Order: sequence, then structure tokens, then C-alpha cells
Amino acid sequence: KEALILDMDPGIDDAVALSIALTRPEFDLKLLTGVAGNVSVEKTTANLLKLAEFFNRTDIPVAMGAKAPLRREFKDASYIHGASGMPGYDFPEITHQPIEADAVEAMYQVLNDAPEPLTIVATGSYTNIALLLNQHPEIKPKIKRLVLMGGSLSGGNVSSVAEFNVFTDPDAADIVFNSGLDITMIGLDVTLKALLSNQSIQDVAKVGEVGKMISGVMTAYNDVEDDGKPMHDVNTILFLLHPEFFTLEDHMIYVITDGPAIGGTIADTQDRWSNGQLNAHVAVDIDAQAFEKWFLAEIPHMNQ
Ligand code: BDR
Ligand code: CA
Repeated sequence: KEALILDMDPGIDDAVALSIALTRPEFDLKLLTGVAGNVSVEKTTANLLKLAEFFNRTDIPVAMGAKAPLRREFKDASYIHGASGMPGYDFPEITHQPIEADAVEAMYQVLNDAPEPLTIVATGSYTNIALLLNQHPEIKPKIKRLVLMGGSLSGGNVSSVAEFNVFTDPDAADIVFNSGLDITMIGLDVTLKALLSNQSIQDVAKVGEVGKMISGVMTAYNDVEDDGKPMHDVNTILFLLHPEFFTLEDHMIYVITDGPAIGGTIADTQDRWSNGQLNAHVAVDIDAQAFEKWFLAEIPHMNQ
């Protein structure tokens, strides 16, 4: 089993990613942490609790993280993810609570206590992770790798260059990409190809209560491409299960932290700046058909 910490801002695609992570037997989820992003941190954390209850996984600790980016003003994406961050399905009221420790302390404790280094998957801004690295740099050897949704080498979704998670907290992204940790960047280069078609969104409504929930939130999701809706964050979990669906390239990624290109991620593809240094495995292509086929096949299992 792969032991994981999931740091998220649910968020509709985060919610779907978490649904798979909560139900796949390959994973041992040690901790869920919320960060401000698609909606406020109070709401993203509440959404983690809601999903954990929906899947009867209240055994997994949930911790609340950063309320705002390190330096920039916080702006949410409720225009895409709705006011609650998880619209389109009537989740019952939550009955359990976040743990007392905040996300950074909780991550530190869990990493420290783990016998082996752990993988951290981040599908929101990297504020919590940057704070962890700043406050507890000695914990780095306990982090096996970071699998990040975010960034892009081929154009942005909030400006012509910037992807939302990096744009929301570019200073945090800069710290993370300079951390020396083993980083896999799964950005818009692949996630804009990994769509769930509008027909599939309708069809999955018939696949049990989980299908109804996923169809509901995906219908309410305002991230729309011509052929369907992108499942950005789901790609991180898919990558852990099926790395063979992805094409990766190693690059030196620089994060732009100021000016009109703020939030941009630049790969020094021709080694003009970085003297051969590399800091990330970057997903540059995906088998999009295999993605949708895999995703649809997952849903029946998630009902069990
Ligand atoms: C990313 O931004 C968020 O709105 C999504 O949840 C995803 O993590 C895509 O750019
Ligand atoms: Ca997200």
C-alpha cells in the first residue's frame, strides 16, 4: 500500500480525486489537509470532512490549513466550483471535526511518526507545503515525493501563462520547486486533455449513489471545454495508479512570482539558464481515451 498525505482545496475535481483515493485499496491515507483555493479554507476543510463521511472514512484525520497565500491576497474560484466548492449534490451535515493541530503541524507529526518516507499529493495551492518546508526543513528526508497538480508549459487557465494553483500562491510554488524534493508536476498540459464527456457525466448518474454524487457535482462544475469537462486533480491519483498512461519529461521549472506573467511555470527546455539542473518530472502527455475508460470503470467499485 502507498501511504499518502492529501493536501487539497475541494473543489469539484479535488472531490472526485479524493473519492477515488478514499476507495482504492492501493492507498493508505494518513492525513487529509485543506488549503484556501477554490473556496475558503473553512469550506475546503468542511468538504474534506463531508467526503470522508460519505465514504465512511472518518478514521482518517482531517486538518485545516492556510487561510491565505503567503504574500498575495486570496481570491477564490467560486465562479467555477460554486459558493460551497462542492455544489450539485446534497451531502448530509457533517458530524465529525477537524483535528486540533493545523495542517502544517499535522503533516509534520504524521511524517515524523511514519516509519518510511511518505508521498504528498497536492491538488490546491502549495501554501501548506511551503509553510511546512519553511518551518520544519529537517522533515524533507521523510517526504518520498510530491505529486502536484498545477502549472503548465503550454498556456494557462487564469492568464495566458498561469495555472490556477500556482497563480493563487506563486511564492509557495517557488519554494516547493526549489526545495530539492522529488517533484512530479501534473499540469494543464495533460489535465486539459483528460476530459469527462458530457454524455459520461449524465451516464454515471445511474451508477449507484457514488455515480449520482459524481454526476451531480460534475454537472454543477463550470470548467467547460468543447468535448467535456477537465478532471484536473483526478490525474494525480491516476498517476499513482497508472503512471504508464502518462508521458513525462524532466525539466528545470521556474515559477514567476511577479509581474504580468505571475504564476507562470517556465521550463528551461534548452538549458539556457539552469546549467543542466533539473527539478521536476513534468507530465507532458496522457492517453486521454485510457483516462476516461479507467475513470468510468472506477465508479462501480467506489459504491462498495
Ligand atoms: C486547478 O485549479 C482548481 O480550480 C482545480 O481544482 C485544479 O486543482 C486547475 O487549474
Ligand atoms: Ca484543486
